[in-house]
Amino acid sequence: MKFEVPFLDLQQPMAPLRPALDAAYRRVMDSGRYILGAEVERFEEDFAAVAGSTHAVGVGNGLDALAFALSAVGVQAGDDVVVPAHTFIATWLAVRMVGARPVPAEPAPGAFNCGPEEIAAALTPATRAVVVVHLYGEPVQAEAIAALCAERGLPMVEDAAQAHGAQRNGRPAGSLGAAAAFSFYPGKNLGAFGDAGAVTSSDPAVIERVQRLRNYGGLAHYDHAAEGRNSRLDPLQAAFLAVKLPALSAWNERRRAVAARYAQGLAGLPGLQLPTTLPGNLPAWHLYVVRSPRRDALLAHLAAAGVEARLHYPRAVIRCAPFAEHAAPSETAADRLAAEVLSLPMGPHLDDAQVDRVIEAVRAFHR
Ligand SMILES: Cc1ncc(COP(=O)(O)O)c(C=O)c1O
Repeated sequence: MKFEVPFLDLQQPMAPLRPALDAAYRRVMDSGRYILGAEVERFEEDFAAVAGSTHAVGVGNGLDALAFALSAVGVQAGDDVVVPAHTFIATWLAVRMVGARPVPAEPAPGAFNCGPEEIAAALTPATRAVVVVHLYGEPVQAEAIAALCAERGLPMVEDAAQAHGAQRNGRPAGSLGAAAAFSFYPGKNLGAFGDAGAVTSSDPAVIERVQRLRNYGGLAHYDHAAEGRNSRLDPLQAAFLAVKLPALSAWNERRRAVAARYAQGLAGLPGLQLPTTLPGNLPAWHLYVVRSPRRDALLAHLAAAGVEARLHYPRAVIRCAPFAEHAAPSETAADRLAAEVLSLPMGPHLDDAQVDRVIEAVRAFHR
């Protein structure tokens, strides 16, 4: 189905970058170097600066980035790791990948992210780390959560897969904890042309561990000091990402302008809850997520009006088969979010006329 206002358009914002992307492709092809090397190192350096960290390590995808970050901060099999109940399933899967047990923290009232109280309530004697997710690009209350973690000697790991360029009190997502994981899945604020990811940290020991984990445990050929895997950022993706990175802040600015237009145009509709942002936050607006008790009808209405909305995420992680053992007998706050969330089109591809069309379609539903 073709929508007049598509949820996402990965090609349109790329048009002005096409010559530079084509040149990057030719440069990598001509280099003869197709694993790690200068292209990856250059992007790692550029991206670390954007994430406010001394280092970045390019890996195969965001899921591996998070699993590597957890291992690198010391999480081991049998440990408990606190994770948000309301997130993409990858956050939980990464915990399982290192043999640990995810322990859910519910979202704070009126928010999508957990606050320090919800995280404190989820701590167990076996907790060895806390994963925070800047969901939809909205930074968490990092200072308060980091303070709670510090009191217990726990590393705070950021899942920043949706938060490239977001800031919390002037500090970039990716620099707020012991380590952070980013995804460059094509639809992210900074996306590759395939799967890609990165870990950022300013702790040299964490960085070295991730460099080993992504590359068979070694920093060089046949150096296998750790039990690693093969999950390296491709030089071709690194070269493309390096072309796109300088455009990130302008793309994020456009997302902020779209969010502001939605906020103004959709204010005051009965039953419709608009996303809020905490004081001190500069969100990346990866998604613009509203809540409605009539979510499914609104989704169908928008589709009929040519507006492509999506759901992030329609089922709480505890209701997904791999995590059935965590399923609560009664409805949780995360279940309620799963039933009510709806993501409006969001991205630098949208012009004001398209945003107004979305606003008009949502308003018509409430008339
Ligand atoms: C919050 C969150 N965490 C982790 C991931 C995993 O990233 P990837 O798809 O690159 O493995 C994603 C995106 O897919 C995500 O949205």
